[in-house]
Amino acid sequence: MIHFDLEQPQDQAVIENILDQAFGPSRSDKSSYALRHSLNRVDDLCLTARLNAQSAVVGTVRIWEAAVVDLLNHKFQDTLLLGPLAVLPTMQGLRIGAGLMRRVLSKIDVLGYQRVMLVGDIDFYNQFGFQGVKPRHITMPGGMDADRLLVRQTSGIKSLPTVGRVVSRDYKTLEEKPLFAA
Ligand SMILES: CC(C)(COP(=O)(O)OP(=O)(O)OC[C@H]1O[C@@H](n2cnc3c(N)ncnc32)[C@H](O)[C@@H]1OP(=O)(O)O)[C@@H](O)C(=O)NCCC(=O)NCCS
Repeated sequence: MIHFDLEQPQDQAVIENILDQAFGPSRSDKSSYALRHSLNRVDDLCLTARLNAQSAVVGTVRIWEAAVVDLLNHKFQDTLLLGPLAVLPTMQGLRIGAGLMRRVLSKIDVLGYQRVMLVGDIDFYNQFGFQGVKPRHITMPGGMDADRLLVRQTSGIKSLPTVGRVVSRDYKTLEEKPLFAA
């Protein structure tokens, strides 16, 4: 029976190894990695999967605080950013990834967060309520990943902007000016 729990500081090295195996050594080239360096991690939402309570980690999911800036009016909306999600290759296909997703989303809902975004494959994440942000044009830093950016949000909250970018919450001054002055 898989044991799901919060990530512990001593799990770091094993998790780095899982991420290298799951995503390959060039994983740090991705725009989501660059952005995460400037984000605060939500420790209460970073989960691990182990074969039992004492064994090493075989699966990981991490959650970060981020925002979406509307590039037309320079207004910000809060979001959580999910990722990376990974399972040790030898343990994939055993519903560990789904278990991590279901548990972290349940915690997110209980804590009252209304929006989660991620960069990933819709074919996997649609079973957890994620949808593509398109036709909105929302990108990660560097202008990348518009096609794979997904969102899960509660009904009734403000829509994402038509043209936006995922940024850190302390991103107060845009490097580029808004396309149109407010
Ligand atoms: C993607 C990943 C996290 C899934 O975890 P997993 O434990 O192997 O998957 P599960 O056994 O929980 O699969 C749950 C369901 O999703 C499906 N699924 C798994 N990976 C899928 C994928 N890449 N695309 C579409 N569906 C997928 C499974 O077939 C299963 O479907 P079912 O309920 O109809 O049987 C894992 O395979 C992994 O680490 N991959 C490499 C890293 C990665 O791509 N991470 C996600 C992007 S951030």
